[in-house]
Amino acid sequence: MTTSSNRTVIIEMERVVLRQLMAADAPALYAIFSHPEVMRYWASPPWTSITQAEERLARAQNGYRSEEGFQWGIERREDGDLMGTCSLFSFNRPSRRCEIGYALGRPYWGQGYMGEALRALVAYAFTTLDLNRLEADIDPRNTSSAKTLERLGFQTEGFLPERWIVGDEVSDTWLYGLLRRNWQKDGRR
Ligand SMILES: CC(C)(COP(=O)(O)OP(=O)(O)OC[C@H]1O[C@@H](n2cnc3c(N)ncnc32)[C@H](O)[C@@H]1OP(=O)(O)O)[C@@H](O)C(=O)NCCC(=O)NCCS
Repeated sequence: MTTSSNRTVIIEMERVVLRQLMAADAPALYAIFSHPEVMRYWASPPWTSITQAEERLARAQNGYRSEEGFQWGIERREDGDLMGTCSLFSFNRPSRRCEIGYALGRPYWGQGYMGEALRALVAYAFTTLDLNRLEADIDPRNTSSAKTLERLGFQTEGFLPERWIVGDEVSDTWLYGLLRRNWQKDGRR
């Protein structure tokens, strides 16, 4: 972990940097999580107030301190834009597993940025954090998210009907999983 320009960098990749979120990110975070297309298959409705961004940033800071969860910003190297976030949460330490979550601002879709960010996140989880298993819970209609996971080697493990109720919409889940031994076998994608 290094610190530069007042921001705490976790991992640098070719085009993206994973870094801690900070108070100045509130407007960019709000732009991402208030967008209806980004939130279409999310487990909660689009944000409607910048206060929600500020609360999320406070939770992220708590997570870094307590190590109970990590939500990192995905910054574009070429211009420093905060494009999205990716997270490790719901840790079960004895079983060495957690869930991953991710969202990219609408203007940044379709360019492989999330794939690059998640390759770094998965490597961090299996090496630095020494986890054995990662899980992702996605809406079966969220085909771009499924493709992103499958490119990383995640496999479908189960169908959970009517797992979520967001507003008046009931939705199902495909549970995806990735074991460290399969990730290693595949040459650390
Ligand atoms: C899920 C989500 C992150 C996927 O975004 P994405 O940009 O499609 O994801 P990737 O980074 O994997 O990019 C892959 C796409 O970029 C394209 N691409 C373009 N240049 C590329 C490059 N240099 N490298 C890799 N892929 C590239 C790929 O062809 C692919 O497009 P395709 O799926 O149409 O074939 C995005 O749709 C999102 O944030 N959705 C809202 C939040 C959400 O649903 N999160 C998941 C909840 S579980």
